[in-house]
Amino acid sequence: MDAQTNLSLKNFNTFGIDVKAKQFIEIQSVDELKHVLKRFYTEEIFVLGGGSNMLLTKDIEKTVLYINNKGISIIEENKNESIIEVQSGENWHEFVMWTVNNGYGGLENLALIPGHVGTAPVQNIGAYGVELKDTFVSCRAIHRQTLDEKLFHLEDCKFGYRQSVFKSLLKDQYIITSVRFKLTNQNHKIQTEYGAIKSELSKMQVGDPGPEEVAKAVIAIRQSKLPDPKEIGNSGSFFKNPVIPTNQFKDLKSVYEDIPSYNIDENHVKVPAGWLIEHSGLKGYREGDAGVHKKQALVLVNYGNASGQDILNLSVKVQGKVRDKFGISLEAEVNIF
Ligand code: EPU
Repeated sequence: MDAQTNLSLKNFNTFGIDVKAKQFIEIQSVDELKHVLKRFYTEEIFVLGGGSNMLLTKDIEKTVLYINNKGISIIEENKNESIIEVQSGENWHEFVMWTVNNGYGGLENLALIPGHVGTAPVQNIGAYGVELKDTFVSCRAIHRQTLDEKLFHLEDCKFGYRQSVFKSLLKDQYIITSVRFKLTNQNHKIQTEYGAIKSELSKMQVGDPGPEEVAKAVIAIRQSKLPDPKEIGNSGSFFKNPVIPTNQFKDLKSVYEDIPSYNIDENHVKVPAGWLIEHSGLKGYREGDAGVHKKQALVLVNYGNASGQDILNLSVKVQGKVRDKFGISLEAEVNIF
């Protein structure tokens, strides 16, 4: 558990932003985490997981705790279902592939999402009709100040669209150390209603897909339009898809007939931010090394040496254009520091 000083975080955030951490400590176990938390005041630490949902705009003048505890274990198993516990520092996609390769179902639609397992519940990661909350059982977390260990059950987490208690009421209070999922061993609940999955599976000539085939389809779709952070820095969707009043949507629809939407409830509709950005003329737009991705306008990218501030400036420009054209405010999905 060595401490390093003035370490570049370029390889620890998927945007590939080159800022420095005043001090950096890698944590490999819950005991190590407790030990370190005892030494610092809460405001002196910065918790880092996979670094896949953040934009760093300046050096971190704090002690960065890199949560890297590993391990996957089967807690309970019957004919139909298993409870799997996974430690926070595991890479999310590698964990998903472990489940798929071992015959478990439930996480296959969430393949190839960057980040670590421990931060996945914070924003209730989701893709292709499935969200983390659908298989989540509980997570363990440590209070940053009191060091109390708490078990959070599904209902305690208040999951919503890219939302949880860890992002709202309990923001910055707990560090998640492990997560439990309930996965199927047979009779898998295959979710292919999301249009792109169906067409990808038929391209693959798969008639009766299992978790493995669905994961393959999801990987193919994501690879075809989302940039690989190892090649082009990015944090996935930079903005949330905005939810707007149905009346406002009707007005927009009368002008833009092909605007896509998902019904939320009687009075609200979700509109894809990527569509709004594209139709504001910004898909593929670039300012220096900061850009709007060519194939998916919801993703902002770092072509190499953009600073966090460059990306932030671009995001403000995108928000301004979308507001001017559609009267809709886009909210960042990534955390900006
Ligand atoms: N669209 C455009 N232009 C674009 C991008 C999208 O017109 O440049 C349109 C598409 O044609 C489609 C609609 O917008 O009609 C939705 O696009 P897509 O299916 O790609 O999904 P999304 O709403 O852009 C969301 C998630 C993604 C997730 C996909 C698939 C959010 C903020 N993003 O994107 O999550 O992979 O659905 O389920 O909810 C992430 O959070 O990092 C992420 C990648």
